[in-house]
Amino acid sequence: MTLASLLSLPRDRNALSLPEAPWPRTLVVAGTAAVLAFGATRVFAIQPAAGAVVLGMLAIAAAQVGARPGPALVVGVIAAIWNDVVALPQALAGFVGPALVIELWAAFLRARPRMPLRRKVVADLCLMSLALGSPVAIGFTAGPGYVDLDAVPEFRRYIIDLTAIGLAYVGLLAAATVMLGRGLRWLRVQTKRRRAYTQDLAEQSAQRSQQAVRASPSLLPRAPAGVAIPFVRQQPRHTLVDRPPRTIDEIDTPAAIIDLDLVKQNIKTLEDFVRFRPVHTRPHAKTHKTPAIGRLQVQAGAVGLTCAKVGEAEAMVDGGIEDVLIANQVVGPIKIERMCRLAQRARVGVEVDDPVNVDEISAAAQRHGVTIGVVVEIDVGGPRGGVQPHDPALALARRVMDRPGLEFTGLMAYEGHTVGIEDWDERNAAARAALAPVIETRELCEAEGIPVREVTGGATNTFDITGTINGWTELQAGTYVTMDAWFRPHAGHAFTQAFWILTSVTSRAKPGYVHLDGGRKSIAFEPSGTPVIDDPEGLEIEVVAEEHLHVKMLDGAPDLRPGDQVRVTPWHGCGTFNLHDTLYVLQDDEVVDIWPISGRGRFT
Ligand SMILES: Cc1ncc(COP(=O)(O)O)c(C=O)c1O
Repeated sequence: MTLASLLSLPRDRNALSLPEAPWPRTLVVAGTAAVLAFGATRVFAIQPAAGAVVLGMLAIAAAQVGARPGPALVVGVIAAIWNDVVALPQALAGFVGPALVIELWAAFLRARPRMPLRRKVVADLCLMSLALGSPVAIGFTAGPGYVDLDAVPEFRRYIIDLTAIGLAYVGLLAAATVMLGRGLRWLRVQTKRRRAYTQDLAEQSAQRSQQAVRASPSLLPRAPAGVAIPFVRQQPRHTLVDRPPRTIDEIDTPAAIIDLDLVKQNIKTLEDFVRFRPVHTRPHAKTHKTPAIGRLQVQAGAVGLTCAKVGEAEAMVDGGIEDVLIANQVVGPIKIERMCRLAQRARVGVEVDDPVNVDEISAAAQRHGVTIGVVVEIDVGGPRGGVQPHDPALALARRVMDRPGLEFTGLMAYEGHTVGIEDWDERNAAARAALAPVIETRELCEAEGIPVREVTGGATNTFDITGTINGWTELQAGTYVTMDAWFRPHAGHAFTQAFWILTSVTSRAKPGYVHLDGGRKSIAFEPSGTPVIDDPEGLEIEVVAEEHLHVKMLDGAPDLRPGDQVRVTPWHGCGTFNLHDTLYVLQDDEVVDIWPISGRGRFT
């Protein structure tokens, strides 16, 4: 490599994450190099190694701050020769050696721009020792210098030595500062890149809902405080499409609707149940997916919400919930990353059943400087994950305790396979039998000195079973808040149907039948049952088509006409909420609010 090529070789900006070296900066660095080289080569005369070290450092520093090292070195060489204390070959060895190494290094980085930071630092150290080592070696082989040391007076040698040491320190300090700066810059760039990448993948939708919920926790336009809301009363009826509906009959169908009073009553029923028991509620948001309902639950006494996915948890936190437990395994770097970011703005818990997953979450939590609450899921016989109770669960709990960035909060189990048993006594026996090993594991952990703060789980159909188990602390019931046709035979004694899909009659042409405009696209298809019509009586859903319901008119059915509205009760509420963006909130058939179902569609 020639000196000319050193001069012309552009610095690689990707490799070093620096903007291309601007010429003014290069000139300033070259000027500084000239001044320092002049002083250093004085030292060079008696201590070739020390002088070369300083100049090598200068060259590295020049390169690192984004100046072209070539010009700085050339100026340094000229200064050294002009200074007349060093011969050309030795000067070239002192300057060109480091320059070569630097440029080779730049070429290497160019070839490997994605090298991780650790390797970059190690490689930088190698570079520095090469850059420093070569002139030292040359200095030794070329002899101690060109000045007879014995002839130099004591005082002058002392000054020269001090200067050499001082310059060497300055050089070292410069290099260290530059490397530190570069490391920080690299971290900043990487963080930006990672953030942009994750945003592309998932945060865009999270941000959308965040903006939607923050900008308007309600979709219903609000008048400023103290001003009457004019839009409903002033708008003539023919502009219905331009304004939100005021009453149920103004809602376009199919639409998701709730009765706010009944929702509040269901929430109160569950809170009343736990009020004087050593158990609290953490309702599952997988049912409503609506932060506004979550906030009602928390206001009524829930400690936080349970969520099925990271996305659902993001939506709830965006909507003002401060404590979420993700009751599923969160695996893979993207989701773990998102979970840790969420933990920077809310209390976040997660369930685990795998030691490697524990380690991954711990590492990510440390990187983000957050603490993730962790519950160990125990397999209680249902079609879910979970470690086996007793020793395996204890071992995993220990691992969680041992890992930084994690807080072992307790145990989790979901007795879902028992909730469908219709007879309460049988359900009671099955749920208790399934959950007994969880309580035994709790006792085992505590006997081993591992405190178990929470034992969490439980469902709508078992709220009055699981909630009375000694040692159980948290109920995750979800469906109770709005109920559905499936759960009514099991929990209808306590909770009231409060959620429907409002449909309209589209056809009555076929004798004995009507068609409603709800279908599998607006009412979730469930293998275990079909939606029902409670009111008016005499309507039986025979077929749930994609876009309509084929409804048989039985004796006593009303005389329905196209445009008439019918409330359809979903077989299972959770999937149906997931199909709608918007929830119409009714009180006495008046639309009192419209809420975004911002947790819908959060599959990740
Ligand atoms: C982990 C977990 N907890 C709680 C629930 C609450 O269930 P439910 O809707 O029956 O109240 C579910 C439902 O699937 C669940 O998966």
